[in-house]
Amino acid sequence: MPLSNQAVRDIETLVHPYTNLAMFRETGPLIIERGQGVFLYDGKGKAYIDGMAGLWCTALGHGNEELIEAATQQMRKLSFGHLFTGKSHEGAIELAEKLKEIAPVPTSKVFFCNSGSEANDTQVKLTWYMNNALGRPRKKKIVSRLKAYHGVTIASASLTGLPHNQTDFDVPIAGIVHTSCPHHYRFAHAGESEEAFAERLAGELEALILREGPETIAAFIAEPVMGAGGVIVPPKTYFPKITDVCRKYDVYMICDEVICGFGRLGTSFGCERVGFEPHTISLAKALTSAYVPLAAVTVPEMMYQALLDESRKIGTFGHGFTYSGHPVAAAVALKVLEIYARERMADAVAGKEPHFQARLAALAQHPLVGEARGLGLVGAVELVADKASKRSFDAKAGVAARAVQFTEEEGAIVRFLPSDVISLCPPLIITRAELDALFDALALALDRTLDWARRERLVIG
Ligand SMILES: Cc1ncc(COP(=O)(O)O)c(C=O)c1O
Repeated sequence: MPLSNQAVRDIETLVHPYTNLAMFRETGPLIIERGQGVFLYDGKGKAYIDGMAGLWCTALGHGNEELIEAATQQMRKLSFGHLFTGKSHEGAIELAEKLKEIAPVPTSKVFFCNSGSEANDTQVKLTWYMNNALGRPRKKKIVSRLKAYHGVTIASASLTGLPHNQTDFDVPIAGIVHTSCPHHYRFAHAGESEEAFAERLAGELEALILREGPETIAAFIAEPVMGAGGVIVPPKTYFPKITDVCRKYDVYMICDEVICGFGRLGTSFGCERVGFEPHTISLAKALTSAYVPLAAVTVPEMMYQALLDESRKIGTFGHGFTYSGHPVAAAVALKVLEIYARERMADAVAGKEPHFQARLAALAQHPLVGEARGLGLVGAVELVADKASKRSFDAKAGVAARAVQFTEEEGAIVRFLPSDVISLCPPLIITRAELDALFDALALALDRTLDWARRERLVIG
């Protein structure tokens, strides 16, 4: 089909994130015109269920009048205010108070950023700064995990453990080390139970810390459920064991709640669901339900004391963004948090989880699906060429990309991730009927993908 004029304008003007830029010149964009609730609509009026909540973020869906009103009122009152050099405004103060109150970790202060990447970069910088203040300048290395996703700015891209975020970008920077990924399906030894696998991974983390020297290891960062790395749900005992290892070597624990925070896993925060007891959390995405950008980092008292010492010594705390604590973002976040509390959102997700996970688990019967996995309202299917041997397709065959395209044709948006994983992360407000429509579309798309793969001789039988 010839590309529309709008598609051609797009191709000639935009560099698209996370896109095969060469292939995109042929296929062009799917241009979304408007959104309402869990639905997106293209220029021809075709409706799509937003099965990925945008990019794991539009928890309350589109067109929420309360959020629109909160943003509008704030723009009328104070459209910009900053927190530099002692300035402040009520929205930032109130939001920090609220986050302190609901945070799952003891929190002294809150630092605002604009994106998940900035939040995790901030975590790295604060860790380094703290250890300088504490007189341990060698304790600077940060441990992340293979397949982790923590963003794309220079420190965050270094924490991320995915090749396509690092190859030819000259990251990771020095001092970032990666430990094993807790994906039992892919990385367990033959016959190894989930419990034994978790035990081994905690041992591998400890071995890494001892090899590098505990006096050089400053922090460990982890997502409760790994998102962009493939929706990887750790074994139940993994995080308690990892927490013990980190405590033993005085390692500062950072929980990246950018996807899992605010109810996604059926608990207020993801760390509570998986038994991780960090010192600090990074927040973004559902904090404003993505109506406007906002992110935050919680600061425990020991960290705050270190910041105080350093700023006394240096003369200022030299970190911050123009839009840190933007008043419009703060007003929207306050309204979002009010809605989550009023609607008991984490409980509501826990109520929807059994149906979501049952529909997901049923896809494991499909000939193309090697594993169906998930927790709360996040899930994925991993497509394989051979179920018995778990053999993957050749990445160049683009099997998951094809399934995503068929799903779009069937009226739902899902996303493909590396290793032919298709992820689902619908808005938290999705109804049972909408969930069924989402899974029906994906199931039909998988059937169409199987027919296509047979025609292409990618699968036998
Ligand atoms: C767990 C996690 N951390 C950090 C980020 C980076 O957030 P941003 O894209 O807002 O920089 C993401 C984005 O998807 C994420 O999933």
